[in-house]
Amino acid sequence: MYMENTEKRLLSGLQPSGELTIGNYCGGIRQFLEYQKEYDSFLFVPDMHTITVPQGDPKLIQERIRRFANLYLACGLDPANCTFYIQSEVPAVNQLAWILECHTYMGELSRMTQFKAKSEKQTNVGCGLFTYPVLMAADIILYDSNVVPVGADQKQHVELARDIAERMNHKYGDLFVVPEPIIPKVGAKIKDLQDPTKKMSKSAEDTSGIIFLLDNEATIKKKINRAVTDNDGYVAFDEEKKPGISNLITLYSALSGTPLQQAIDRFTGWERYGDFKKEVLEVIYETLRPVQAEYERLSKSDYVDEVLDRGRDRANEIANRKYDLVRRAVGFGR
Ligand code: TYM
Repeated sequence: MYMENTEKRLLSGLQPSGELTIGNYCGGIRQFLEYQKEYDSFLFVPDMHTITVPQGDPKLIQERIRRFANLYLACGLDPANCTFYIQSEVPAVNQLAWILECHTYMGELSRMTQFKAKSEKQTNVGCGLFTYPVLMAADIILYDSNVVPVGADQKQHVELARDIAERMNHKYGDLFVVPEPIIPKVGAKIKDLQDPTKKMSKSAEDTSGIIFLLDNEATIKKKINRAVTDNDGYVAFDEEKKPGISNLITLYSALSGTPLQQAIDRFTGWERYGDFKKEVLEVIYETLRPVQAEYERLSKSDYVDEVLDRGRDRANEIANRKYDLVRRAVGFGR
């Protein structure tokens, strides 16, 4: 098999279909930061995935891509350790996605829960929404990624990427590394503060239950104070019976790095929800203060372009070599 290097590779992406949330931080970014030094790390902005659902002004997407890129850096992405790029700047991913599409079954894509949920919300469902997981598989296996840190909602897509890689390897010889998802033990599915039975989603229309990484402190305070809890009058962790309180304990644990059980022990039995919420608020502030300060600084400069140019060049070099191999394996060209 043609392998790029002996160091293991890690890859992840967060799509700019809305502003980054504290859920994305807990499920995606936090893990990436933890692992980035242990692997040859790749992080990218999947801008092509964004148009799988209708978007408004294209200029706003571009602005968001820039905000995302600066925010990743502000969160602690280390450009010295990480290949950081924008998906659409590596054309080979599209070329590979076509080949993979021809090796993916309609039945497999029909079973994707995210497709089912997103397609229900639209009248004219684009084909891209259906084939989205194949493009994601191409993102992953094009670079021989060993591990893919994601939140719980993306696990099924990484598993599909595994199936496709195995199928291709079986048919054409060992072409791809079969990737593994890494799902965090705590914070893999942060819930909406207004409806703690559903995922906090950056593309939701009602933003009152979503904390964005760039929200100011007054806004965050308002959102936490209004977060839905219950009338029991005591704190306890029970995701079914007390989803609101349990979500806040999870947030506290994920952001402070306190093991979940320790956080549960600390807060169980507190009778004043206000006091408990104050503690949660504090760890959110502590997490976001340095990120927002660094974001302010970075967004006044063009540093991010330097990093993205370098990332684009390295990503293309690796991607083109791999694509060439795959293209020949399936019998394209002369
Ligand atoms: P996206 O942009 O929806 O989400 C980005 C990351 O955040 C995680 N996440 C959450 N984690 C905890 N709680 C939540 N409420 C929450 N909401 C989102 C997601 O699981 C993800 O890790 N298709 C991907 C982007 C993508 C990708 C890839 C990821 C494209 N190609 C290749 C990894 C590898 C997506 O839309 O994620």
